[in-house]
Amino acid sequence: MKIVRFRLATNQDKDSVLDFCKSTFSWGDYIDRVWDIWISEPNGMLLVAEAENHVKKPIAIIHGILIPEKTIWIEGIRVDSEYRKQNLATNLINQILEYGRRNGAIHSAAIVSIKNEASKRLMEKSKFEILSKWSYISTNQIILPPTNNLKGNFKIADSNDYQQIINFLGNSENFKSSGKKFVNSWRWHDLSEDRLFTMINNKQVIIVRKNKNNNDDDDKLQIRGIAITDREGYWNNQNIFQIVYIEADSEELLPSLVNKSLELALQHNEKHSYKNKNKYERIQVFSPYREYNSRIFTKSNITFSEQFLLYCKKIQDRL
Ligand SMILES: CC(C)(COP(=O)(O)OP(=O)(O)OC[C@H]1O[C@@H](n2cnc3c(N)ncnc32)[C@H](O)[C@@H]1OP(=O)(O)O)[C@@H](O)C(=O)NCCC(=O)NCCS
Repeated sequence: MKIVRFRLATNQDKDSVLDFCKSTFSWGDYIDRVWDIWISEPNGMLLVAEAENHVKKPIAIIHGILIPEKTIWIEGIRVDSEYRKQNLATNLINQILEYGRRNGAIHSAAIVSIKNEASKRLMEKSKFEILSKWSYISTNQIILPPTNNLKGNFKIADSNDYQQIINFLGNSENFKSSGKKFVNSWRWHDLSEDRLFTMINNKQVIIVRKNKNNNDDDDKLQIRGIAITDREGYWNNQNIFQIVYIEADSEELLPSLVNKSLELALQHNEKHSYKNKNKYERIQVFSPYREYNSRIFTKSNITFSEQFLLYCKKIQDRL
């Protein structure tokens, strides 16, 4: 194959691209759901590669987007199966990194399934390193199996809980090992104190404390777990309830925290809006990997579970 030029994608490319992205993975692909968003999203670049022997027919794509943490986020790398192993993906990544540098990005990052050997090698060859490992589940069983009648002391956090949550996360090995990230629309972002504050104000943060004895003061009890929720879905999937960060101090508590977070979110929706009032079509949960997360989620007869690696790379010194 005579290569190739790299150029910005146009809407005329859409059908050809979707054609070679129909069955990328065992479950299909998601490029059809994001194409219209990616092609018009500000601060991003949707690139295609086209071969000389085709008239403007794209044979590979990549999307890069500048996210607030001075990072160029890479996603949607797809190479038509006929043209793989010819450095197309490597060259596309380099183009995106260059775009990131020109626009002040200091880091680049991307997420890869732990089972995707080709992609893991691609990232490693491009000198990305693993920052953290994540468990992911997606289920349409709204009720996860009940857990030993565990009576936790759950609540939607408010600003009075802020400092205790900061302390909890500050002492959490789990949080540290996650790279201090959370997920927003399939991009991993820094869970900064400011963001956390906003999320608490938006009633997105659920905490569980130790069970109380008669004369315990609720607010002083130690936090045992935290879930950060997103009630709004993502892309064109508004009917998805996401937990975008979760951790709990025990194996038993984790499913209860998922259940309770959903219940509290539905109560919140009922009170404050009509959207997603009674139900969600699907629940997705992202958590920093721990062996027991993975075990519980597999055991729970979940529709889909997976592990992901968050890859990062420094692309230039601070400006
Ligand atoms: C993963 C994918 C993008 C790689 O595209 P590509 O153009 O073939 O990759 P490159 O030719 O640039 O390969 C770069 C390196 O990746 C690794 N690699 C690529 N394909 C591989 C494979 N099938 N098995 C093992 N390693 C592979 C190799 O280390 C290769 O370097 P080398 O040839 O010097 O050994 C392509 O296989 C693809 O589109 N897969 C389906 C979609 C996908 O998984 N996208 C990534 C989602 S995160």
